[in-house]
Amino acid sequence: MRAYRAALLYFKPDADPRDSAVYLDDGLLVTGPNAQGTQVVQAVGPYRDVAVRYPQVPVQHFPGRIIAPGFVDLHSHYPQTNVIGSPADGLLPWLEHYTFPEEKCFSAPDYCAQAAAFFIAEMLRNGVTTMLTFATSHPASVQALFAEAQKQRLRLITGLCLMDRHAPPDLLNQPSAPGGSDATERSLIDSETLLQTWHGVDRLGYAITPRFAPTSSDAQLRGAGDLATRYPDAWIQSHVAENHEGIAWARDLFPASDSYLSTYGDFGLLRQRAIYAHCIHFDDADRALMRDSGAAAAVCPTSNLFLGSGFFDYVEADRVGFQYGLANDVGGGTSFSPFHTMLAAYYVGREGQTKPGVSLSPQHVWWQHTAGAAQALGLAGVVGNLQPGCEADLVVLNPQATPLLARRTAQAASLDELLFAMVVLGDDRLVEKTVISQAF
Ligand code: GUN
Ligand code: ZN
Repeated sequence: MRAYRAALLYFKPDADPRDSAVYLDDGLLVTGPNAQGTQVVQAVGPYRDVAVRYPQVPVQHFPGRIIAPGFVDLHSHYPQTNVIGSPADGLLPWLEHYTFPEEKCFSAPDYCAQAAAFFIAEMLRNGVTTMLTFATSHPASVQALFAEAQKQRLRLITGLCLMDRHAPPDLLNQPSAPGGSDATERSLIDSETLLQTWHGVDRLGYAITPRFAPTSSDAQLRGAGDLATRYPDAWIQSHVAENHEGIAWARDLFPASDSYLSTYGDFGLLRQRAIYAHCIHFDDADRALMRDSGAAAAVCPTSNLFLGSGFFDYVEADRVGFQYGLANDVGGGTSFSPFHTMLAAYYVGREGQTKPGVSLSPQHVWWQHTAGAAQALGLAGVVGNLQPGCEADLVVLNPQATPLLARRTAQAASLDELLFAMVVLGDDRLVEKTVISQAF
């Protein structure tokens, strides 16, 4: 067992997320291995109360530092690291001119391996310790990412990108033999094989991954829904209602469905553990469908601002009551830093679709990137918090990391002021250390 003395930041599990943060100036976090050998939190609380219960456990002291749960990121594309900052008129031209050409490179296993190693290192350097991310339509891209994540003992979820139409031919799912006609069937077989190989191994999870409705045939979506029924604890990830052009396209291709979102429902792809990126242009029927199915939104504010897609509507989401959490959406998103994502979420909240929008509390945006995102994944109490039993994926934050951070955080007169200073001024420099469920 180990014990860490520092300021501690975490969240009361069942409290209102706008006001659920706990901050202990002088805390003690005690961790020890669970039955699987994963380091988990054994105790957390004020130093003076907890230390006496663990007199034999050596204490490592981090004066002036804050230990917080590692960030949980609900949506990104590991093959799009090289695409960050590519400007386009909107989503569809951005996909065509930058993203699809880059994703083609992932037919080569070596390219996948180096991209996976860089992506994971960059996520960790920025304090993200749990991630749900897209691979490409190449099985090798999934294999490479799982292998790297396993090496690092990471909690990571990914899956084969299902895409059997409306993309460049060499980026579509491929048939078993060149010129064959079984590409759709092959993509579903490959998905199931990868799922059986990796899902539940160590801390890895599989996500059934139709890219978005316009790039899948009815047969592919039906097959994905069938997998989702047969593997209820596997995740589902896709995109929905990101911009008006994409919505019109999806409505055109699936006229029998009531909306873009309900297309997924009609194919059995809306349920708990289904994470849909963006969820911007919704009506109340869509919001109710999210709520009633237990699906969750991955809110991607830097991506939505960069691509001009629109603003996630926090006011309406909360009025109807569906789940959401934050995501960097690299490479439509512009940063690996959860601090940049949280600040962008704050800006998006102010704008909203509904005027006058909302001033999200810093506790709420932080929760959306930790305990709230974990809850959206069905992993509440497993990651994203410091309550006993949580896996010890941690960040050590240094609020003196830059002269401005030091000056501003020293003036903070309340927890909200301290958190706001870090959300607004923070970046990778604030993250002194990221710890993955192991000893420091
Ligand atoms: N919709 C379909 N594919 C993508 C993608 O790669 N990025 C974003 N932001 N939206 C998408
Ligand atoms: Zn995306």
